[in-house]
Amino acid sequence: MDNGNKLRPTFHITGGDGWINDPNGLVVFRGRYHVFFQYHPYSTEWGPMHWGHVVSDDLMHWQRLPIALTPGGDGDADGCFSGSAVVYNDKLYLMYTGFTKNAGLDTERQVQCLAESDDGIHFVKRGVVIDSDGIPLGYSATDFRDPKVWRHDGKFWCVIAARKLDGRGRTLMYSSDDLLSWRFVGDMLGEDCKGVMTECPDYRDTEGLFLASEQSQPPEGNVHLNYHTTRWTLGKLDYGTGRFTPKDSGICDYGFDFYAPQSFENEPVMIGWMNMWDRSMPSAQYGFTGMLTVPRRISVKDGELSQTPIVTKKEVVRKTNVKSVKDRIKVGVTEIAAENLREFSLLMRKGDGAVTTFTLSNGEWVFDRSRSGERITGVETNADSLAGVRRMPFDGKKKTEITVVFDEFSIEIFVNGKSLTSTVYPPHNADGLELNVDADTCEYVRYDAD
Ligand code: FRU
Repeated sequence: MDNGNKLRPTFHITGGDGWINDPNGLVVFRGRYHVFFQYHPYSTEWGPMHWGHVVSDDLMHWQRLPIALTPGGDGDADGCFSGSAVVYNDKLYLMYTGFTKNAGLDTERQVQCLAESDDGIHFVKRGVVIDSDGIPLGYSATDFRDPKVWRHDGKFWCVIAARKLDGRGRTLMYSSDDLLSWRFVGDMLGEDCKGVMTECPDYRDTEGLFLASEQSQPPEGNVHLNYHTTRWTLGKLDYGTGRFTPKDSGICDYGFDFYAPQSFENEPVMIGWMNMWDRSMPSAQYGFTGMLTVPRRISVKDGELSQTPIVTKKEVVRKTNVKSVKDRIKVGVTEIAAENLREFSLLMRKGDGAVTTFTLSNGEWVFDRSRSGERITGVETNADSLAGVRRMPFDGKKKTEITVVFDEFSIEIFVNGKSLTSTVYPPHNADGLELNVDADTCEYVRYDAD
């Protein structure tokens, strides 16, 4: 992406300047990948939400397109909140949440709106398609957002985050024949979520996969330590009642910075927001805040969500049978494949007194950004958060495959399909890498961005 001479990530989508949060409207339209995102172009802080827009032929090289949605229309006076996209009759449709601060009452309103485009670049708003009177009794009209649309059996279906007036977050399912008129089908889980409010639900028919983010979900042991979190759930959806019967469930990402992921309806690829609400964002000093994760190919392996990063890469170093490696990397990718791994220590972005570590310690992976560089502060009070630490289970399999995506201001680590994603702000020339491994065999490969 062309960012001029500005200090920006290479692999990761940003708004260029200004603030971004959730990825929106992930869709393949006429063979090209479109990604939209929550965008406030005029400041590095969240504000009236627009939809920013980028496009790619390969999910790796992105081109910036004009802003797709600007708030100020029917139902979206104060913001175009998160939503999704679908292709219908060779047109691209965006279904999103219109936000009004004060709808003549002393309260906020969230309604679902539609916009359409002939060319995938310019959008015409079609107005409100699910108004407050389309919300079932007992659910709030102020917390009703983030529609994710998909097709099944010749109809459109969507899941929308909602909240019980006397309770917490829910996910409601609707269906439609034409995207304009929607019918309430059911409350997917039929019980409150663990956090205060559900956000950005996503359902994938092919995998039976339900993704949902939750505001202020309490920690469970060593997971869900971020103040807001995202979990995956595998199960079975009954299209007649809208009821989803959950089976297996887990956290989507073990790192500090991952929220509100969305998948492409027509491709098993997911992208998340690589930040966290209620945290400081040191990148504001460079004129931008908010990044998206790299696209991740998703599948179900052994009853769990599995993710592999999609990044452009050109091999520059390959070493086999390594026990220790010293290298340099600031922006690029390393792949480490080991058999019967017993010990592992990876020092990253080392230099000028800073270091970020990823180690195998007492049978679990430990990521430590306490000495990474510029401090990031948050509202979390659990011991690991205060210590700058995140942990991920070690599966102890014969083969351990690790991919680390290094970029300006972030490190994304993937181990056998599990991910741990965090922002980091090291000194600018800190690029040292040191690997120490005890395993039967170990291969190390380093790639530059291509
Ligand atoms: C999630 C979220 C969504 C909302 C959007 C507003 O991060 O709070 O629920 O639509 O951000 O920007």
